[in-house]
Amino acid sequence: MREIKSLLVTGGCGFIGSNFVRYWLEQHPESRVVVYDKLTYAGRKENLHDLWDTANVSLVVGDIGDQDLVRRTCQDEAIDLIVNFAAETHVDQSILGPLVFTDTNVRGTHVLLEVARELGIRLHHISTDEVYGHIKDNHQSVETDELAPRSPYAASKAAADQLVQAYAITYGIPVTITRGANNVGPYQYPEKAVPLFSTNAILGEPLPVYGDGLQMRDYAHVYDHCTGIEAVLLRGEIGEVYNVGTGREMTNLEMVDIVLDTLGKDHGLVKHVTDRPGHDRRYSMNVDKLRTLGWEPKYDPKQAVAEAARWYVDNRWWWEPIRSGEFREYYDRQYAERLAGTESK
Ligand code: NAD
Ligand code: DAU
Repeated sequence: MREIKSLLVTGGCGFIGSNFVRYWLEQHPESRVVVYDKLTYAGRKENLHDLWDTANVSLVVGDIGDQDLVRRTCQDEAIDLIVNFAAETHVDQSILGPLVFTDTNVRGTHVLLEVARELGIRLHHISTDEVYGHIKDNHQSVETDELAPRSPYAASKAAADQLVQAYAITYGIPVTITRGANNVGPYQYPEKAVPLFSTNAILGEPLPVYGDGLQMRDYAHVYDHCTGIEAVLLRGEIGEVYNVGTGREMTNLEMVDIVLDTLGKDHGLVKHVTDRPGHDRRYSMNVDKLRTLGWEPKYDPKQAVAEAARWYVDNRWWWEPIRSGEFREYYDRQYAERLAGTESK
């Protein structure tokens, strides 16, 4: 078991990053966490509202592409591990405006690798099942499968994933990678399907399901992603890649049914709308390699979706200000036309 004293958590004010910081400090209260975050629209200081007064947590507001600031922060804070969650993360946003995805996800990760190389720091990179592309028949992606990304977001994540592996091969720097499935849970920005559908349902607004809604996703609880990352940080083999998910998928229509049933809402709220261009039909990963580290997911995807939906009922203080702010402009751009000409399920 490795000892980790001082972590730089990039993107720690985002959905998964903030859940990870909270989980990590519960499990390892003796370690120190420096959150490094640009605070984009998806990065919310309030995601860690309960932790900012804690002595061993601090925030540096900055871009992972700022090499001087990353280097200085790592030196000043005696960082021994960088965990890179920072990214532009929404597929639909990558279709509307792709260049920032390359800036942050590719160049930003590259800058972190350069600093890690220069200072001799281990880097753990958070990748995604989307790098495998959409998965045919009954196959489940294993870590050695070819990467075949199909959206600007997925392509930028695949490039970052491969840069991390290339640095390990070329320079021998200590890296690990986890590839996560679709996460759900507290503090997920409501542009993503489960929080969007949950908050729309609570507000009595239509749920815009892309196409036939038969796309398959492994909706994994963010808690299980955090325990999976922890297992790799503490016991994973340096240089290796690990898939993190439940290995079980459902269709988006099944996910929507769970959300509506959990919230006691009418299924007539479902609206089939024009599909996402290039929409990946199915993601599915084999997670046996992570199991060899003694990890098991706690939640099944149905429980994960239901629990996530309930969180949005109990935490309107968090999402109501988001939905009434700049999010509205994005929502109208993304959905107004689609919802105007649609039919009920
Ligand atoms: P998110 O969009 O909720 O948060 C991203 C965070 O990164 C925000 O706090 C944002 O401010 C920060 N950020 C963005 N650009 C930055 C930059 N240039 N410099 C510094 N900080 C910057 O994302 P998330 O859903 O929490 O995803 C976190 C990571 O996990 C990403 O790398 C994503 O690709 C990966 N991932 C996400 C999922 C999922 O289902 N959400 C699944 C697998 C992998
Ligand atoms: O699989 C891991 C990925 O999961 C992460 O790498 C990404 O960062 C994360 O955003 C997520 O990507 P998806 O595109 O799968 O997630 P999203 O929540 O956007 O959509 C989930 C499914 O729901 C997908 O099949 C598209 C569909 N969907 C989504 C939205 C926003 C709809 O049908 N309607 C919608 O309005």
